[in-house]
Amino acid sequence: MIYTRVVPAQCIACGLCQLKAPELFAYDEEGIAYVKIDNNQGTTPLPLPLQAQFKAAYTNCPTGAIIRQNQPYTEAQRQQL
Ligand code: F3S
Repeated sequence: MIYTRVVPAQCIACGLCQLKAPELFAYDEEGIAYVKIDNNQGTTPLPLPLQAQFKAAYTNCPTGAIIRQNQPYTEAQRQQL
């Protein structure tokens, strides 16, 4: 399973992730990206049909703001962002 989030402080609002994965990423009013499926909490596993889009966004984000891990992000991890 893949769980993903955007680190807001590292996002430069370049717009690439939504271009690559429109079903997965959206932007707040300042253009900072977040993960749509769980409001950037990293607690909902990435649906299989979105994994190819995710990979394209993850590998192309110019700042590495998109992070991922194989288990849900814990409360402590969520508070770090
Ligand atoms: Fe931000 Fe990276 Fe997307 S810089 S807008 S998270 S591609």
